[in-house]
Amino acid sequence: MMNTAALETAKKNVFTKGFLDIDLDPTLDLFAAIERLKKEKNAVVLAHYYQEPDIQDVADYIGDSLGLAQQAEKTTTDIIVFAGVHFMAETAKILNPTKKVLIPDFNAGCSLSDSCPPALFKKFKEDHPDHAVVSYINCSAGIKALSDVIVTSSNARAVVDSFPKDKKIIFAPDRNLGAYLEKVTGREMLLWNGSCIVHEIFSLEKITKLKVRHPHAKLIAHPECEEPILRIADYIGSTTGLLKYTQTDDTQEYIVATETGILHQMMKASPHKTFIPAPPNNSCACNDCPFMKLNTLEKLYLCMEYETPEITMDETLRLQAKKSIDRMMEISRQAGL
Ligand code: 13P
Ligand code: SF4
Repeated sequence: MMNTAALETAKKNVFTKGFLDIDLDPTLDLFAAIERLKKEKNAVVLAHYYQEPDIQDVADYIGDSLGLAQQAEKTTTDIIVFAGVHFMAETAKILNPTKKVLIPDFNAGCSLSDSCPPALFKKFKEDHPDHAVVSYINCSAGIKALSDVIVTSSNARAVVDSFPKDKKIIFAPDRNLGAYLEKVTGREMLLWNGSCIVHEIFSLEKITKLKVRHPHAKLIAHPECEEPILRIADYIGSTTGLLKYTQTDDTQEYIVATETGILHQMMKASPHKTFIPAPPNNSCACNDCPFMKLNTLEKLYLCMEYETPEITMDETLRLQAKKSIDRMMEISRQAGL
């Protein structure tokens, strides 16, 4: 255990660094320590599929954005430790105002969320007063508060279909998911011009060559990918959808066009199958989300031990943002999702 003064300094620095920067005893068994803290503090660890494998292995629940929100809604623990990015932990806080919501690294943001600043979006919405606002969950609480309903990649089609055909819709912030929804629902929407840096990195040329070398492999893709990738995909779905597909489909090889973290669960569920990460259009590992990967097992342990960084939120904003999430949850229930 470190001395009190050093700990206080580290806690103050959380606001600038985003996490508790404390040197840990390298012999500490982090898996055992996290399990102990879960029990001692009545805490649950929720992790997104894009987290590093160690974090997935220590989590109580691993899921996509919809699954995680549903899990956060029904959890009974005092503390929710959210191993994911900021908008996800924020959603858990919106649904659980009396619980403590912790995130291993407060700087775990999202390029898609950042592409839609609330002040600009408010003006855009005011310019189109006859439009309903449907927003992808990958956005800030400020955008959720300006939205009529939220969607995730699992329920987006059901939510968009729930509006009368003649209702005009603004879809924010992901232009790729928006374009995909326009195609599958057969309706035009006004799309905000945002995107995810990870899902826009895949190279059509390299994937096409990879398919030639692996003629039996199926291409499976997340709908945040660009249209040329989606056009040649054999299956398009959320992270949970992609994982389930590889479990039920009888193909032996898959080229996976989404963040690489999902491969951990795919390989665990189907160890006899081959999973190839879709190649990016450069030579670095850019299909790793740099925000998701800010969280580490060490930071997860530290945030549980010292209960910081914590997600807090203005109550008026929370209540406003909750309305659009509640509506999504209701439509999902009705659709059996
Ligand atoms: P899902 O979890 O809905 O598949 O979305 C993926 C994603 O990009 C999360 O940031
Ligand atoms: Fe955001 Fe893309 Fe990272 Fe998901 S993968 S958190 S959409 S930057």
